[in-house]
Order: sequence, then structure tokens, then C-alpha cells
Amino acid sequence: MALPRLTTDFDTPVSRDGTASLKYDARTTYFGTNDVVPLWVADMDFSAPEAVTTALIARAQHTIYGYTDYPESLYTSMQQWFNRRHHWAIERESIVLCPGVVPSIYAVITALTDVGDQVIIQPPVYHPFFTAVKDTQRTLVENPLILAGNQYRMDLDHLAQCAEAGAKVLVLCSPHNPVGRVWQPSELEALLAVARRYNLIIISDEIHADLIFPDQTHIAIATLADDVSIITAVSPSKTFNIPGLGLSALVVNDKAQRDGIKQVFNDWHVSNMNPFSICGFEAAYMHGEAWLDDLMVYLNDTRLAVKRYLEASLPEITLIESEGTYLLWLDCRAMNMTDADLHRFFIEEGKVAMSPGTLFGDVGSGFMRLNIAAPRALILTVLKTIRSALPS
Ligand SMILES: Cc1ncc(COP(=O)(O)O)c(C=O)c1O
Repeated sequence: MALPRLTTDFDTPVSRDGTASLKYDARTTYFGTNDVVPLWVADMDFSAPEAVTTALIARAQHTIYGYTDYPESLYTSMQQWFNRRHHWAIERESIVLCPGVVPSIYAVITALTDVGDQVIIQPPVYHPFFTAVKDTQRTLVENPLILAGNQYRMDLDHLAQCAEAGAKVLVLCSPHNPVGRVWQPSELEALLAVARRYNLIIISDEIHADLIFPDQTHIAIATLADDVSIITAVSPSKTFNIPGLGLSALVVNDKAQRDGIKQVFNDWHVSNMNPFSICGFEAAYMHGEAWLDDLMVYLNDTRLAVKRYLEASLPEITLIESEGTYLLWLDCRAMNMTDADLHRFFIEEGKVAMSPGTLFGDVGSGFMRLNIAAPRALILTVLKTIRSALPS
């Protein structure tokens, strides 16, 4: 297979043919047809930073692919990244390397709670949060976000009630997929006050921490408190478009919690990773910064172009104010369709595969999630197809 171009030109399409891409090749399975532009699962149609590809090629050229340990340089790359980009000094011993953020959430819930314990999530939210609670036989408690105007906020009063009623853990999505919120320091402080009062453990999924639009700042909640139990999941996977490599990290300051989580991974026999994920992770954190800065300029321009187009030509769809992530949350309630009809309309008439809002909980009814991490011209073409399919 020919190597794709290595560039920060995000406009020129890069073919994913022959890569068994989930986003493209599973269209028939998930949407019943291949005849849709795939703007659903959260990866990008952009080449990863050149330094990542160079490092992977160099590693592949060493022809032994044996069992591999995590080198010190891997930890250092992560510490330096979070220090520089997020003003977060992470202790080396707090880092637990993991085979992905979703398995980490499963492992943390398993390690820190018992069967039947109540775990809170805040829908509409990334759907594996639901399964992480249910599959581990814990009790799911929902604290839905509140849509105020064109932006979501957390319901801290209801959160406190849930904690008072015995919930042990909150799984926080920060920034929040799918609604695009980058939580402000005042909101995080208020959340911490509830956690402090009720001894609530916070699992903070910060996988989207680097995908922040201008004028916004992501605050790692762990930097705001050392008297609340906070376990943070991070990864370069969304940031640099390397989720297929499958490596992430947990930051766990408490030794007993850390040992418990490591024990779960050991019990599951998933504590070792492959050499390619390790070298991709390290190269991204060491050399990907300029690429990321270019990416965020591009994604922001696309976000604004979508907003302008919807306002001018597709007022039936409202873009919920987005502060981060490349996932836009579209309010389609003014289209006056059932969820099944919305889903069918976008596939059959709009020729686009988006994630249905109900995937993220019942409160996602009437919404769709649009992945804009593709060439801008393609995104705008999709919007025009939708426009022409709607009565004018
Ligand atoms: C909030 C959130 N957490 C986790 C993941 C997936 O993480 P991983 O692939 O490392 O399991 C995603 C992917 O979309 C996500 O949006």
C-alpha cells in the first residue's frame, strides 16, 4: 500500500481504502448502506503528524517485534506534554499505562467500587460510560446535563442529591463528548465542592483535553484539588489521530487505588502493550505540537463554517455552542421528526452517517452528533445535500 501524504494540509482528502477503517468499512453494518459520507465514529480523516509515521516506520524497520516494556522516555514525554500544555505536573509514579481509555474506566470502576454500588454519569454522554457501569454490575445513576439556551451545564443540585443517596463515583467527561463543553474553573470548583462534601470519587475522562477551540482553556480537574479522590484518563489518541494504536494512561495519585487498578489489569492479562503503540504515543507527545496547533485552527474554521451555513441556510438545525472536541452536537428538534425518522432522513436523503443523539442517552432524543474532522469541503457538501433534501 502506498504511504499517504504527510502534511498539515487538511483539505486534500486522504483515502482510507484498504485500511479496514471502522468509520468507512462498517457503514453497511451500522447504517445499512455504503452510500453515506461517514461522519460518525470519533477518529479523523487526516494523516497523523509526520513524526508519528516516521517513528512507526523506524520501529517497523527493526524486524523483531517482541514483548515490550514501557520505556522511561514514554513517561517523560507524557509528563512534559502535560506540564507544557496543561500546567499539570504529573508525578512519574502516578502514571498507570493502559490499553485505552474505555478499558481504563472499566478497570477503575471494578477496582474502586463493589457490585451494586451506584455510579453517576451525566448524559447525553459518550455511550461506553453507560456500559462501563452496567457491564461491571454497578448501579447506573443518571445526572442529566441541563440545556440552558444554547449551552449545557451540569446539574449540581441533582448531583448532590445522588451523592447523598449513596453514589460513590462520578464519571466526568471533560471536555464533554458529545455536547462540546470545556468545563470552566468555576464549574469544576463547584463540582469539587460536592465531591468533597460527599466523598465522591471522580473519574475524569480527559481524552479530548487537547482539542480546544480558541478562547477556551481546558483545566485538568486534578490540578484544582488534592483533597478529593480524582483519577484522570488521558491519551494522545484523539489529539493526534492515533486511536487505532490503542494506548492511554491513568493518573492516580493514591497508591492504594493505583495498586488496585493495576491488579485489575493484571487479572485481565492486559498489562503489556505492543511496540507500535508505545512509539506512536511517545513521538506524538514529543513532536506533535505544531501539527496540533495547525489542526485546531483548521477545525475551528470548519466549526465556524458549519455554524454560518446552518444559520443562513438550514435554520431547522441548531449548532449547540461548541468549545472543544471535533464532535458537533446538532439540535434537530425543529425538524419535527421522531428519532427513527431523523436517522432514516440523514442516511437516505442527507447521504450522511452521523451518530444518533439517542446513542448518548434518552436525553439525546432529537439531536445528532456530527464529526467534522474531515476536509471542510466534504462537510459543507454534506450540509448542502441535507439542505436540498429538506422542503424549502
Ligand atoms: C470521551 C471518550 N472517552 C474515550 C474514548 C475512547 O477511548 P479509547 O479508544 O482509548 O478506549 C472516546 C472516543 O470517542 C471518547 O470520546
